[in-house]
Amino acid sequence: MTQGKINVAVVTGGGHGIGRALCRRLVGVAATVVVADIDASAASTVASGIGGVARALDVSDEQAIAELVAGIEDEFGPIDLFISNAGVGFGDGESGAISAEGGMNPIDDRWQASWQVNVMAHVYAARALVPRMLNRGGGQLVNSASAAGLLSQIGDAAYSTTKHAAVGFAESLAIDYGDDGIQVSVVCPQAVATRMIGIEDDSDSMEGGFGGNEVDGIMTAEDVADIIVEQALAGKFLILTHAPVTTYVQRKATDHDRWISGMRRLRQKVLDR
Ligand SMILES: NC(=O)c1ccc[n+]([C@@H]2O[C@H](COP(=O)([O-])OP(=O)(O)OC[C@H]3O[C@@H](n4cnc5c(N)ncnc54)[C@H](O)[C@@H]3O)[C@@H](O)[C@H]2O)c1
Repeated sequence: MTQGKINVAVVTGGGHGIGRALCRRLVGVAATVVVADIDASAASTVASGIGGVARALDVSDEQAIAELVAGIEDEFGPIDLFISNAGVGFGDGESGAISAEGGMNPIDDRWQASWQVNVMAHVYAARALVPRMLNRGGGQLVNSASAAGLLSQIGDAAYSTTKHAAVGFAESLAIDYGDDGIQVSVVCPQAVATRMIGIEDDSDSMEGGFGGNEVDGIMTAEDVADIIVEQALAGKFLILTHAPVTTYVQRKATDHDRWISGMRRLRQKVLDR
C-alpha cells in the first residue's frame, strides 16, 4: 500500500464497538470501507451511515473469508488495508479456567470459539491476502489482539491465551513479509467501552466488565480507533492505546515471578470488590 492512498479497507467486526469506530474513522482515508460482521444487520447500519459496503461474514469460516476477499477485490479493486478486528471473550465463569463449559455464553467450548475467532481468523485473512499483496508489491494487515496478549486478562484464560497467540502470529507475519512490502500491526488495548466488557454501543456509561477493567480507566472506542488508524498508517507494529501497558510489559519482562505475584494481588482485589 502506498501510504495515504488506500483504495479498499476492510474491517471485520465492523458492526459494533471498536470495529464500528474504525469504519467511521476510515471515511476519507479509504476510498471504499467494507464493514464485515457476523451481525449482518449491524454491518448494514454502519455501512449505510458512512457510505460504505456491508458484508455478512463469520471470520471463523476460512472459506467465507477467502470468498469475501475475492468478491470485494473483483468488485472494488485491491484491498490495501485489512483490519482483523472481530474478537470474542467469554469469561471463565464460576467454573474457572479449565472447564470445557462456556462462561457467559451458551457455547460448549469457549476455548475452541476463542481460538477460531481470536487467532485462526487472522491466519485465514493472511492466507487469503498475503499472496495477493505480494503479487502487487504490498499491503497492510492490522490484527486486533489485546493487552491481555502481552499481559493477562484476569478471569479469562482462553481470551488471554488466544490473544497471546494473536500477538505471536502478527510478529511472524511482520518478520516473514515485512521486507516484501507487507506492513503488519498488532493492536493491544486495555479496557474499551464496548459490548465486550458489558457496555452497549452509544451508551454513555463507562463502567462495566470483569477482571479489573476499571483499574487504569476505560477508553472510548472512538479514541482507540483514532490511535489505531494513526499509528497503523504511520507503519507502527505494536499499537498500545493505553499508556500504562508499556510499563507493565517492561516490568513483566524484567521479573516474571514478581509480575505473577502482582497479578495475584490484583485478582484478589477484584474478587474482594
Ligand atoms: N473492549 C475491550 O475492552 C477490548 C480490549 C482489548 C482488545 N479488544 C479487542 O478489540 C476487538 C473488538 O472488540 P470490541 O471491544 O469492539 O467488541 P464488541 O463485542 O463490541 O465487537 C465485536 C464485533 O465482532 C463481531 N464478531 C464476533 N464474532 C464474529 C465472527 N465470528 N465473525 C465476524 N464478526 C464477529 C461482533 O458481532 C461485533 O460486531 C476484539 O478483537 C477484542 O478482543 C477489546
